[in-house]
Amino acid sequence: MTRAIKVSSWNEWDPLRHVIVGKADHGQIPAPEPALNAKVPEESDMRGRWGRRSKDSIARANELLDEFSALLRRRGIRVDRPDPIDHNLAIATPDFTVANQFTCMAPRDVLLTIGNEIIEATMSYRCRWFEYLSYRPLLEHYFEADRGFRHVAAPKPRLTDRSYRPDYFADRIDEPTRLEWTARKHFVTTEQEILFDAADVTRFGRDLVVQHGFTTNAKGIDWLRRHFPSHRVHAVNFPGDPYPIHIDCTFVPIRPGLILNNPLRRLPDEQRAFFARNDWLILEAAPPAHNEPPPLCYSSVWLSMNVLVLDPKTVCVEASEVRQAEQLDRLGLEVVPVELRDAYPFGGGLHCCTADVWREGTCEDYFPRG
Ligand code: NVA
Repeated sequence: MTRAIKVSSWNEWDPLRHVIVGKADHGQIPAPEPALNAKVPEESDMRGRWGRRSKDSIARANELLDEFSALLRRRGIRVDRPDPIDHNLAIATPDFTVANQFTCMAPRDVLLTIGNEIIEATMSYRCRWFEYLSYRPLLEHYFEADRGFRHVAAPKPRLTDRSYRPDYFADRIDEPTRLEWTARKHFVTTEQEILFDAADVTRFGRDLVVQHGFTTNAKGIDWLRRHFPSHRVHAVNFPGDPYPIHIDCTFVPIRPGLILNNPLRRLPDEQRAFFARNDWLILEAAPPAHNEPPPLCYSSVWLSMNVLVLDPKTVCVEASEVRQAEQLDRLGLEVVPVELRDAYPFGGGLHCCTADVWREGTCEDYFPRG
């Protein structure tokens, strides 16, 4: 018997019942554009390259994503998959054109599930402007199947050059300069318009913690605050990160009371007070097992901490990330190893490649001391 569809998820750890897992079809290295240039490290093998990824790499990534989906299904979790648009196509709006797009490997970046609502984020890269279309068939289906589901699209941005700071277009920016800019919140995106990527938000019931950085600006955080008047929305930033995009390699809740923080991207003291006074422990994540990301990958080695929590006692960790697995095992969790490293270049790790549809549980206040 098929279970009725229900859209509901309030946090990152309640028992997972229904999830979307991305696909690598038509995977691209995006053509240069302002937001993207700011994110590609100087020494990266991605610099100056763009176009369709190889057939073999796409097939391998899809094999791993299929296996991950099968593993989740064996655990009784319903898994849906997107309908990839052709990311190889050039796109144009009245304001910009780009020569190709990205993928739909990382639904977490685009879809923000809060309670019975799924929001399509504005996104902040031009190449990701139409990515929501790959998820539309699923969202249309949920809309028909669940009368309680609220389907929301955040205001689509124009992404003209005014949305990006020209300082970041320079060919070389050394790391000390980048760190100094991050520390004073001088990010590549300006405050021209509302911008956020869904993966900058981490959900703690009544509290939403949102990274202010390259992909989410202060106006984006303000939009979330106004959109969720019953939530407390906390803006955070991580001065140690020269490329601050997406919170899920930086600040990762595991279960009520426990967060992993990337030791190189420490949450500043004044922002820790809120967690401390509510008895939440912020632990330094274990170091990654690898010195380098896989070839042609945008993300850092810290995809090691991009874990998917299945319930407060069970967590999926990438199979080669033995140190992260060990740490979580010592913390008393059952660790489920999942091979995904060859899919990293398409958009990220185990958390990135999923988006919640349903987790059990309700909206709770985990920070009663405000
Ligand atoms: N900023 C992240 C990407 C998160 C998926 C990184 O460490 O590369």
